[in-house]
Amino acid sequence: MTHPLKSMPVRPSEITPKDVYLSRRDFIKAAGILAGSAALAACAPAEAEGTSPAPAQNLPVLTDELGDPANTFDEITKYNNYYEFSTNKEAVAPLSKNFTTSPWTLEVTGMVGKPKTFGIEDLLTMFPQVDRIYRLRCVEAWSMVIPWNGFPLASLLKQVEPTSDAQYVRFETVYRPEEMKGQGSAFYPWPYQEGLRLDEAMNDLAILATGLYGEMMPSQNGAPIRLVVPWKYGFKSIKSIVKIELTDKRPETLWSTVAPNEYGFYANVNPNVDHPRWSQASERRIGELTRRETLMFNGYGEQVADLYADMDLSLHY
Ligand code: MTE
Repeated sequence: MTHPLKSMPVRPSEITPKDVYLSRRDFIKAAGILAGSAALAACAPAEAEGTSPAPAQNLPVLTDELGDPANTFDEITKYNNYYEFSTNKEAVAPLSKNFTTSPWTLEVTGMVGKPKTFGIEDLLTMFPQVDRIYRLRCVEAWSMVIPWNGFPLASLLKQVEPTSDAQYVRFETVYRPEEMKGQGSAFYPWPYQEGLRLDEAMNDLAILATGLYGEMMPSQNGAPIRLVVPWKYGFKSIKSIVKIELTDKRPETLWSTVAPNEYGFYANVNPNVDHPRWSQASERRIGELTRRETLMFNGYGEQVADLYADMDLSLHY
């Protein structure tokens, strides 16, 4: 693997309105440039910009730190995994359209000095907000680049003061079968739950996301608040969280309960360890025609490899 690893993802200095994001992306498409964004400024025909008000040559291209352009708002919001609504990716958006996301509270409890239940409005204002353009690599071997808005999970955890016994963080999705028809399926142990080791949770890359492309989080992407852990397979990034619990026991997770030999607790992106039913060496970036190599830790090794220094990464965890 020869991809350059940079130390931090790109952080736009401000949240850009969605129409500006969209016009950037439309321009990228119109110019026929889906990679190699450096070339963009040099070949910016005004007509490719269509009716967009801003001059194309002044638009910074929205890319991750490897130079990969962000997926479109449409791609990100019309192809979703959210089993509470449907196992059909295209059906999630219409089925979640009327999902009630307000009022919403997030309880943070367990082995903490200061347990607290936060209203979603508080979470939007209490912590310094960040914009992070992250790759999301699904265990099913497709991927996207998504511009999230949110705040580091560590800010929230520090506020509740984990005790010295706390070793893990458990996350729980809302249980509301009357609105989420998929929760009627007895095959899955609802509510969806996930977990991280506490030191993983404290890593700056792990965020609680409340929006994307500068918009409030769409229901299908996990409104009003979801986890994003970019170095792990997408199923770790649990949606629509109502409870976070600090604990000294490794949490059960929905997928490791359903199929323990296929979905481990750690689930770090690893091109060298195949899923029992398919290869993890490459992936299909949504919007691209050819497959690309999957990167160790999804390309975030510089920031997270130390967390696993004592683990044999050739094993399936
Ligand atoms: N969270 C919940 N509660 N339910 C789910 O079905 N699917 C996971 C993850 N979080 C899922 C979830 C999977 S498999 C992936 S790949 C990502 O959400 C997809 O996130 P996206 O739809 O925002 O791209």
